[in-house]
Amino acid sequence: MMSPSPTTIISGGSRGLGLAVASRLLERGDRIATFSRSGSAALDGLASRHPGRVHHEQFDTADSAAIRRFVANAVDRFGRVDHCVANAAVAAEGILATMSDADIDAMLTVNLRGAIVLVRECVRQFLAQPKARPDAEAGAVVVVSSVVAARGSPGLAVYAATKAGLEGFARCLAREVGPRGIRVNAVAPGFLATELSATLSSADRERIVRRTPLGRLGDTADIVGAIDFLTSPGAAFVTGQTLTVDGGGAA
Ligand SMILES: NC(=O)c1ccc[n+]([C@@H]2O[C@H](COP(=O)([O-])OP(=O)(O)OC[C@H]3O[C@@H](n4cnc5c(N)ncnc54)[C@H](OP(=O)(O)O)[C@@H]3O)[C@@H](O)[C@H]2O)c1
Repeated sequence: MMSPSPTTIISGGSRGLGLAVASRLLERGDRIATFSRSGSAALDGLASRHPGRVHHEQFDTADSAAIRRFVANAVDRFGRVDHCVANAAVAAEGILATMSDADIDAMLTVNLRGAIVLVRECVRQFLAQPKARPDAEAGAVVVVSSVVAARGSPGLAVYAATKAGLEGFARCLAREVGPRGIRVNAVAPGFLATELSATLSSADRERIVRRTPLGRLGDTADIVGAIDFLTSPGAAFVTGQTLTVDGGGAA
């Protein structure tokens, strides 16, 4: 008997990297459950090109009860959850000395707490459901970090703290749930041309390109391959890792 196509949960699938990951994983046959505060025409288009295979809800990731309901709704709709991609994030740029409590709280809440709660709900589901096949893994988690976690960048200290926190979270959780057949990895993209990095000045953009061995800024298409791999059988023995995808490193 053929096993059902996998279900992947992705936070922040309405645009940017989350939308690109949703699109790639739909092409490989996954069913996608995603959420964001707003919808988008691009996500609606994806859903109409893949009828019955996209579940989208609108809520704020600060709402833990909504995350719980969302995972339960994804299970009701698709029967199970196989992968979790914690992607939604916000970035408030600015020097720490003048940063408001509201900006600090928003980054901690969305980037760290929201991701942790989503992963917890998915791990609970991985542990509760029967495996897709007797020899299959129980689940795979990918958290989306950033190169600034390891490398640093002025004006992004709080954002970097959330991403470094996520990487530590992934490393520890990989040890905790590995024996139960669940893999946990992080992907650390370099700067990408999305709304999140729209505040990057052209001078900063040029500096990053100059220092990147592959000589250009990354695109969401450059990152989806890493997430596709880490949620595929090809990565069955890869856990607790941070995969950097940044064109070779802008120092
Ligand atoms: N862009 C870069 O240069 C770059 C570099 C390295 C790493 N990354 C990481 O890559 C990931 C994706 O970034 P991106 O560039 O694709 O960002 P983006 O274009 O701004 O998209 C962010 C997504 O997250 C959702 N989101 C944001 N706040 C939310 C909230 N409170 N509740 C629910 N959903 C929320 C957004 O939808 P709504 O606004 O409608 O809620 C959107 O779908 C992030 O983890 C980011 O840190 C990005």
